[in-house]
Amino acid sequence: MATHPLVTAFQQAGQGHVFAHFEALDSAQQAELLADAAEVDLAEIAELNRTLVQANAAAGVDLSDLAPAPYEALPKHGGDAAAWADAKRLGEEALRAGRVAAFVVAGGQGTRLGYDGPKGTYPVTPILKKSLFQVFAEKLRAAGARYGKPLHWFIMTSHINHAATEAFFQEHKYFGLDPEHVHFFRQGRMPAVGFDGKILLEDKHRIAMSPDGHGGSLRALQRSGALDLMQREGIDILSYFQVDNPLVRFIDPAFIGWHLKTRSEMSSKMVPKAYAGEKVGHFCTQRGKTVVIEYSDLPKAMQEETDPATGKLRFVAGSIAIHLLDREFIRRMATGADALPFHRADKKIPCLDAAGNPVKPEKANGVKFEMFVFDALPFAKNPVIIETDRADDFSPVKNAEGVDSPKTCAEDQLRQFARWARANGAELPVDATGLPAFAFEVSPLFGYDEDSFAASWAASSPKPAISAGAVLE
Ligand code: UD1
Repeated sequence: MATHPLVTAFQQAGQGHVFAHFEALDSAQQAELLADAAEVDLAEIAELNRTLVQANAAAGVDLSDLAPAPYEALPKHGGDAAAWADAKRLGEEALRAGRVAAFVVAGGQGTRLGYDGPKGTYPVTPILKKSLFQVFAEKLRAAGARYGKPLHWFIMTSHINHAATEAFFQEHKYFGLDPEHVHFFRQGRMPAVGFDGKILLEDKHRIAMSPDGHGGSLRALQRSGALDLMQREGIDILSYFQVDNPLVRFIDPAFIGWHLKTRSEMSSKMVPKAYAGEKVGHFCTQRGKTVVIEYSDLPKAMQEETDPATGKLRFVAGSIAIHLLDREFIRRMATGADALPFHRADKKIPCLDAAGNPVKPEKANGVKFEMFVFDALPFAKNPVIIETDRADDFSPVKNAEGVDSPKTCAEDQLRQFARWARANGAELPVDATGLPAFAFEVSPLFGYDEDSFAASWAASSPKPAISAGAVLE
């Protein structure tokens, strides 16, 4: 039998071992291995081996010339109230014109949470235990009704959770959304390599592949046809958010307005870090470009540095992974000369040894490659960063216990519900942190932000009773 061209290509690239067991596989397994191999860009892997694997890993991230990034402060922190009002008006106009679509990256595996299943199916609300996906779906429905234009929603999954994610939406009838407006697509994958640069096998017929990071979304949006669909529908702004954060205001007129009025190609929300070592990315500038430096890459001394004049943290702007991206900017990043860099992550990767025996490593034995979406910022024209209130935009579920856990997230939702209700005159006892004395729930269909809540409240007669276990729908 003639050698398959992929086998030859792998041999020529010094990766021939991938097919070491090929002859012993049955034809279905051979097909599986060839399909995995077809996904691998050998030239890209060779380049990554040269630049990331063989190069000294300790070389790390370039921290030269870093300075804190400027941002548009909220009016209550000294920002220009008229400019914010103007931004909000512009954003509302764009929403009424149907120029915005939502985009959640949901390809991650929720390992830290210890939850088996797509993270978006995780129950988060205090009373009804609605899933993250349901909360987002209802926010989207409510925003569509408010602006008189149903919104499109793009959902990026990974190979591991794609089928389960789609099934979840079908089972729940898309939470009342028009299925024609909900678009699922898979992110790409990258092979893992050993420290010697050799591609690792997960099994004799399987390459050890893993998702290519949320930065892979830019390529995947292009490849899946999402950008073309946006173009056909007259959508030019994509509102990007992470699956772990039910508080996110991903339809935020003021944010959209800032993006538009500054002619920004990629915009971001920041919150002042809660404490020096908070595990978020840091917005910085570097030689005229905006960059995000991960908590793991910013030396502790810099994380803790304070401004001598004010005593406040110097690198204060935390990234909460909420961005607006221009459609054509995404296309340029996905297809042009500008491309996101890969990051190296050393991991314990179960694989086969040279003799074909399974290995369960106790310490890191190889490298995974991931792209991060915020690495697009330095390529964007006029990137703008705006401040947001943490209480209104950010309470992720990341860990099973402690900070950023289901418990802290449910409490932050309760604080938000209580704040909205009290602002509209409801009598509701709360403690010093704003936490109400009992649990209740506001459906996003009643209110998904301050304004929509106030509008529903004003239209209600009599006013909803808020008591333990109540649900405002
Ligand atoms: C992330 C950000 C950090 C930010 C913080 C805010 C990175 C490297 N860091 O941290 O700057 O301050 O969130 O909460 O992103 N995902 C995919 N495909 C992948 C990998 C991830 O879709 O291949 C998605 C996940 O489903 C999730 C999101 O990306 O929605 C974030 O991933 P995660 O690994 O949880 O990021 P964090 O380390 O928590």
